[in-house]
Amino acid sequence: MVRCLLLFVSLIILWKCSINEGKPSIIFVPGFLCSLLEIRINTTIQTKCPKSIDNQWILLWLNLRLFQPEYFLCFHEIFQLIYNETSMNFENPPGIQTRLLTNSSKSSFLNGLLWEYIGLDQFLFHFLFKHQYEDGINIRSISYDFRRGTNESLNEFCQRLKELIEITYLTNKNEKISLISHSLGGSMTLNFLNQQNEIWKEKYIHSWISLSGNLAGGIDNIQSLIQGFVSPLIPKTILQTWDFYSWRLPNSFIYGTKRILIESPKKNYSSNDFFDFLNQLGAKQLAQVYLKSSLILSTFSPPNVNTFCFFGTNISTPIKYISTSNTFHGKLSILYGSGDGELDDTNNYSCQLWNQTMDPKYQLTIKSFPYVTHVGLLSNSNLLRQIDQILFN
Ligand SMILES: *[C@@H]1O[C@H](CO)[C@@H](O)[C@H](O)[C@H]1NC(C)=O
Ligand SMILES: *[C@@H]1O[C@H](CO)[C@@H](O)[C@H](O)[C@H]1NC(C)=O
Ligand SMILES: *[C@@H]1O[C@H](CO)[C@@H](O)[C@H](O)[C@H]1NC(C)=O
Ligand SMILES: *[C@@H]1O[C@H](CO)[C@@H](O)[C@H](O)[C@H]1NC(C)=O
Ligand SMILES: *[C@@H]1O[C@H](CO)[C@@H](O)[C@H](O)[C@H]1NC(C)=O
Ligand SMILES: *[C@@H]1O[C@H](CO)[C@@H](O)[C@H](O)[C@H]1NC(C)=O
Ligand SMILES: *[C@@H]1O[C@H](CO)[C@@H](O)[C@H](O)[C@H]1NC(C)=O
Ligand SMILES: *[C@@H]1O[C@H](CO)[C@@H](O)[C@H](O)[C@H]1NC(C)=O
Repeated sequence: MVRCLLLFVSLIILWKCSINEGKPSIIFVPGFLCSLLEIRINTTIQTKCPKSIDNQWILLWLNLRLFQPEYFLCFHEIFQLIYNETSMNFENPPGIQTRLLTNSSKSSFLNGLLWEYIGLDQFLFHFLFKHQYEDGINIRSISYDFRRGTNESLNEFCQRLKELIEITYLTNKNEKISLISHSLGGSMTLNFLNQQNEIWKEKYIHSWISLSGNLAGGIDNIQSLIQGFVSPLIPKTILQTWDFYSWRLPNSFIYGTKRILIESPKKNYSSNDFFDFLNQLGAKQLAQVYLKSSLILSTFSPPNVNTFCFFGTNISTPIKYISTSNTFHGKLSILYGSGDGELDDTNNYSCQLWNQTMDPKYQLTIKSFPYVTHVGLLSNSNLLRQIDQILFN
């Protein structure tokens, strides 16, 4: 009887091994606003917040309850960061602690992510049902506080991603990892790959697949800083305290000094003029942080792993803003060009450059998907077929 059981168990193990054999593990790096954040509030200090939520961990993002009238003022106090003149950094307001919802190193792929809005379940099901991936075992994800963009916050992310990759590698019989990123996750991943040495990457990384990657920053971030995000949900005063914006404005290395991105009566701004722009806008603290953080994007080296840049195109996308006011309090009009609806085509030059700069032993593929949107790419069937070819060829 015991023998039979042993035989049965080893058969199961063999079977489990064989289905995961030769399959790169997947780690997904989500984009902006796609991680869940929790918060603990001391309501003695944060007096605009109801006593009923004192000192308990509650969902901060995305928590629809906080958009209700009795929480709205509280929400605006606690979602912002506060500039510390001494450390010259943004920090949590007093009486506030934040954390990521889960430690995704031990949990299901979708946990900790705001997946509903980007069709990430379809992406997951493709690998679970078509290719027998095991949720949380060889298909995983990593969340992060998307509001942050300092060297410190990015280094902390890199540390966690490195641990997740190494653990996933070990628990899947040394199968290499394919990093699949969406949008901002692309820059998070590129920054990560830049910090790892070649030996480590050779050992652990199968490939990097960047979907809708805004590797050179995004023009539409200019509009959020001027008008807020889905205003009045997240007003500009909150966004101007997120150091995220200090490293997400279009990178001058790609967008250049000639192309005008913002017109105002007295001054036109290229990607080289964002320090002035932030000051004119009244975001003086963010301007200070910008001086440090914008260097992060401009100093990226090629990823030096097999790299696939996939993005949507041929959809009307902001390429320039025209303000009637020098301080951006007036009317703002938008000029449109080609892109994925959020990122314009220029962004693809970051990948194009690697054709010259990356070690030629690594594969580089750049492919656009006409009429596929920034978010729609994730669950696009042509895209999933491309990924299948990369992973299972
Ligand atoms: C909240 O802040 C008040 C005032 O600083 C402090 O006395 C109290 O101990 C804090 N509460 C908690 C649970 O930390
Ligand atoms: C501001 O930063 C300084 C230096 O890091 C620190 O000592 C101080 O406690 C911070 N101030 C606040 C209000 O957090
Ligand atoms: C996640 O894990 C870290 C380190 O193990 C721990 O410090 C942190 O409290 C955990 N977070 C949650 C939400 O459980
Ligand atoms: C950011 O941190 C990395 C790794 O610690 C370091 O190599 C780099 O010089 C830092 N960059 C800036 C702009 O501070
Ligand atoms: C800004 O650019 C527009 C369009 O090219 C041009 O007509 C205008 O004169 C420029 N304004 C300034 C202040 O340079
Ligand atoms: C993209 O749009 C342009 C004009 O708007 C058109 O000429 C071109 O054929 C389109 N490209 C594709 C691949 O559909
Ligand atoms: C990249 O963008 C440029 C315009 O900036 C466009 O001409 C080119 O076709 C794009 N590349 C791909 C692969 O779509
Ligand atoms: C890289 O450059 C070569 C030669 O100029 C070209 O044939 C190839 O299509 C380019 N590859 C990509 C991914 O742009």
